[in-house]
Amino acid sequence: MVNRPRILRATPLIRELSREVKISEKALILPIFIKEGKNIKSPIKSMDKQYHYSVDRVAEEIESALEKGVNKFILFGLPDKKDSFGSLAYCENGVIQNALRTLKAKYGSKIFLITDVCMCEYTDHGHCGILDGEKVDNDSTLLYLGKIAISHALAGADMIAPSDMMDGRVKFIRKSLDENGFKDIGIMSYGVKYASYFYGPFREAVNSKPSFGDRKTYQMDFHNKKEAVKEAMLDVNEGSDMIIVKPALSYLDIVQTVSNTINIPVVAYSVSGEYAMIKSAGKMGFIDEYGVMCESAISIFRAGADVLISYFAKEIATAIKNGDIG
Ligand code: PBG
Repeated sequence: MVNRPRILRATPLIRELSREVKISEKALILPIFIKEGKNIKSPIKSMDKQYHYSVDRVAEEIESALEKGVNKFILFGLPDKKDSFGSLAYCENGVIQNALRTLKAKYGSKIFLITDVCMCEYTDHGHCGILDGEKVDNDSTLLYLGKIAISHALAGADMIAPSDMMDGRVKFIRKSLDENGFKDIGIMSYGVKYASYFYGPFREAVNSKPSFGDRKTYQMDFHNKKEAVKEAMLDVNEGSDMIIVKPALSYLDIVQTVSNTINIPVVAYSVSGEYAMIKSAGKMGFIDEYGVMCESAISIFRAGADVLISYFAKEIATAIKNGDIG
């Protein structure tokens, strides 16, 4: 008797029926860049089809996402001034705080807003924490991260996503939120975040390249896998509700290992460099952009991700709706 695996590949419907990975637009999160100012929708050079929006125009992007079934967002801010303590990251009228109030007033619980909590977009030196000489000082940074998280919660954030990679920050932020009456606001920590060259286009987009050195003293070394388990477990124990693994495509082994190890949802972040590579190779006609986008998204879920943060979230949702994937 011949074993015939081709039976399950014979028609579109049998293929659909026998798919092992089924995904939904409900598991997608779209990043949005919000810039200080008025009437701004300006293209981001390093990321084709991505834009900076001012608070008064960001609803355009929310509407376009909602139409496609994407209702969860992670917000990044571009302040108009930076200083060494990242003051505009935690001020009441910061760009993210204003956006949160505006969007929550308009959409309420129809949308879910996650905020990136970090200092690098707000510091003039571009590092993710407070400096002591040329060193990023872990414990004094925690105080600022706590302040940022509270200011986001006050303005209406649904979930807080610390991306700084300081030690002990999940515990500190959890405690700060609890003490300030935000016991119900969850934490989606960037628990497993590598020092990656794939963040290049994002740093261009938010102008957050460190003015000296690099992020290797706080973000993880890409040679390491056991360390991913260590970092993820630490965050679970400190009270994180979901763990982000980042980047995604060159780190599918990490997504798989972390997802096999921890008992909370794993969120893969397909970062700016992954997006830019697919977009630009597509534009050059070297690859089928749509096909590669679909295949990459599925590969991330197949590796064990429960949730995907992607600049392609709207297009992936459309591909699911059209029956091409999912
Ligand atoms: C902030 C932050 C970064 C990204 C998300 N949050 C940049 C960095 O760590 O340098 C990268 C996202 C992307 O590349 O899409 N710390």
